[in-house]
Amino acid sequence: MSSNAKKLEREARLLGQVSRENLPFHIAIVMDGNGRWARKRGLPRIAGHRAGMNALKEIVASSHELGIKILTCYAFSTENWKRPRWEVDFLMRLPEEYLRKELPSLVEKNIIIRAMGDLERLPERTYRAVNNALESTRDNSGMILNFAINYGGRSEIVKAVKNIVQKALAGELVPEDISGDVLENHLHTEGLPDPDLLIRPSGELRISNFLLWQMAYTELWFTTILWPDFNKEQFLRAILDYQNRDRRFGGIHSGDDETGDQRQSF
Ligand code: FPP
Repeated sequence: MSSNAKKLEREARLLGQVSRENLPFHIAIVMDGNGRWARKRGLPRIAGHRAGMNALKEIVASSHELGIKILTCYAFSTENWKRPRWEVDFLMRLPEEYLRKELPSLVEKNIIIRAMGDLERLPERTYRAVNNALESTRDNSGMILNFAINYGGRSEIVKAVKNIVQKALAGELVPEDISGDVLENHLHTEGLPDPDLLIRPSGELRISNFLLWQMAYTELWFTTILWPDFNKEQFLRAILDYQNRDRRFGGIHSGDDETGDQRQSF
């Protein structure tokens, strides 16, 4: 059997194990490890980012096939500006390249593109490419593919707080009105449910300023595989692992509520 046939067989076996009843509604991914993937092969870092773009294509296709509703991918953080100019320039051209190649297929799949972050600071060409994708998919009704570009969790929260304070100063709300829901309505993820599952490849065991508010109860899944090597098989393994987790959101199972059971018997 060829290695590709074996890969397809493994994917089919894993796919058969995934329950369609308990899919994570919203999956977030930190696409990490592109640079190390390239270094291991003696290639320039940009080759790693380009390979990472191909991994993204496979995971978008798998998410769509499975029926995942929201996929949020960390494409560029507010801290990534610290990288050398040539790398930043390349990373800023990638969304444009990805969208030029993929937009027709994303439109055909009825996918809605969203973007979150400080988009105003993006170079003009990147901004235009992203904006065009938002416009072109605005009326779609399928999976949401949400890109975090020039995004940082802390600055997102600070921005939300500033907006809320401004509204309070304008007399539109009083401190007593401020709740978790109000804060959420001022975040970039407004209208989206929190991620159920975070996937972080590359062996790093941290959140890196991604969706800090939104990940309070997200299930975390880490792998040492580098993002360009991350594929459908890994994706299905992450989902299967998620499906075996016990999510209690700080509560307990109704079956463990002895007081409740007693009350029911009265
Ligand atoms: C982190 O790996 C990755 C990035 C900062 C860029 C992510 C971009 C892609 C995967 C390309 C696809 C994106 C779009 C929007 C089409 P790293 O460079 O920090 O890797 P390292 O830690 O091994 O150096």
